[in-house]
Amino acid sequence: MARRRRVYEGKAKVLYEGPEPGTLVQHFKDDVTAFDNKKSATIEGKGVLNNRISEYIMTQLHNIGVPTHFMRRLNMREQLIREVEIVPIEVVVRNVAAGSIAKRLGIPEGTQLPRSIIEFYYKSDDLGDPIVSEEHITAFGWATPQEIDDIMALSLRINDFLVGLFLGIGIRLVDFKLEFGRLWENETMRIVLADEISPDSCRLWDVETNEKLDKDRFRRDLGGVTEAYQEVAQRLGIMPEGGQSKRRGPMLVK
Ligand code: TMP
Ligand code: ASP
Repeated sequence: MARRRRVYEGKAKVLYEGPEPGTLVQHFKDDVTAFDNKKSATIEGKGVLNNRISEYIMTQLHNIGVPTHFMRRLNMREQLIREVEIVPIEVVVRNVAAGSIAKRLGIPEGTQLPRSIIEFYYKSDDLGDPIVSEEHITAFGWATPQEIDDIMALSLRINDFLVGLFLGIGIRLVDFKLEFGRLWENETMRIVLADEISPDSCRLWDVETNEKLDKDRFRRDLGGVTEAYQEVAQRLGIMPEGGQSKRRGPMLVK
């Protein structure tokens, strides 16, 4: 393949220049990191699974009218996306207390929250992605009030849809992280969902057993990371090429 210009390299993904202006190729690596890079490893097959899972979720979201950067999957590890200007905010939506909110506010992990809670974190590796409020975001110009409104409305729609999608395959969507970008079309700009949605960016617990089917298996040294991601892909009815699928998409779990 011809050499491609690398536009950006993150912890789990690489972005290359796309075949046409305004497009990029998003490549999913097997690398995994946690706690600001203090912990890192390579988990064979993770990138392939995340590419498929994120493709599936982005496509479902597109089908209910959520604008996304996703265009199409190119191969096992790569997808074609629209180039957007990333809003430097990580949006976390929580349904159940876990992770940093459990620690920060002293809420036992697994406690159902009174309602879905949206949090914002400023994207800065140097600062360790600190939690920030809307006030910080607008005062420092990271996003406008209108953009925050759009981001919150989209995040809640995505949450409602994904809670149902995962419940249909026996999985509780505990929390997840989203990123958004600005997409220009002629003179107009709109906010679209960007990055990925995968077990790297979500907490997914089996409804029956509370078994963790996400990156916490790596963060907490629980082992079986690939198997957990594979289980999610299998329950969604998708598997990487050549893989066996036991089930055919979401179904009602009693
Ligand atoms: P937290 O409980 O550590 O704040 O994480 C909340 C959710 O966001 C969880 O599903 C994991 C995800 N997340 C990321 O995708 N990237 C990150 O850098 C962090 C800190 C969390
Ligand atoms: N992705 C972050 C890191 O690599 C943190 C995390 O997901 O736990 O440090």
